[in-house]
Amino acid sequence: MITIKNSVVIRKMEQAGALLADIFCDLKQQIKEGVATGEIDRWIAQQLLLKNLISATKGYMGYQHVSCISVNDEVVHGVPSFSRFLKNGDFIKVDICASWQGYHADMARAFFVGDVSQDAYTLADVAQKALDKGIEKACPGNRLSDISAAIQQEVERHGFGVVRDFAGHGIGKKMHEDPEILNYGESGRGPILRPGMAFAIEPMITKGHYEIFIAEDGWTVKTLDKSLAAHVEDTVLITQQGPKILTRSTTTTL
Ligand code: MF3
Ligand code: CO
Repeated sequence: MITIKNSVVIRKMEQAGALLADIFCDLKQQIKEGVATGEIDRWIAQQLLLKNLISATKGYMGYQHVSCISVNDEVVHGVPSFSRFLKNGDFIKVDICASWQGYHADMARAFFVGDVSQDAYTLADVAQKALDKGIEKACPGNRLSDISAAIQQEVERHGFGVVRDFAGHGIGKKMHEDPEILNYGESGRGPILRPGMAFAIEPMITKGHYEIFIAEDGWTVKTLDKSLAAHVEDTVLITQQGPKILTRSTTTTL
């Protein structure tokens, strides 16, 4: 069942989203050569605390961190580690989901460590464009798969792959709610979108083939062919006026 959020809930989700976006704004300065991903996760934990945000991932199915940090061919769910040091040329994706007064926002962005390959820049750019194209379709009266189809079209237009095994999701009281939002598919299918629905839209894209596997740690999702992958995510509310992105604060231009 897709829940319709009332104005009180919406205000809480807006607050969660704005605070999360602020963290992402400051996060950029933390990401540099020589820093361990565990260190970045610890910094994020401090920021969440300062902003009265509660991590949704710490304790989730045994996961012990407040963020997922995925490097190069890691697509999503990279596990922060104090022995994983960032090096020049790394292409990283940071994903954080947290709640404010019981309601969640979920956000991910790509970052570059020093000078990265042209492929990394292009992949990040296309992931962001695909996300925007998907968000554009999050309008009342459209169908769910209109979002999926728009994302797939944008990604494949650039010759990149769309990961099939993971998807976006509804979001609210819980981090993961109905519906599942695929990043591929034909338009015109699925439920009709209505004001008050809230979605975490998150294209996961690959330079090479879209097939993935899960690493020995049981979490990290990596491309099978070792090609670079990108992932970005926003939490979006469907309003009468169209999509409202909750994870972009007034101070952020991410
Ligand atoms: N934020 C992720 C999402 O978009 C969830 C991370 S799942 C975890 O769904 F278990 F790895 F924490
Ligand atoms: Co998500």
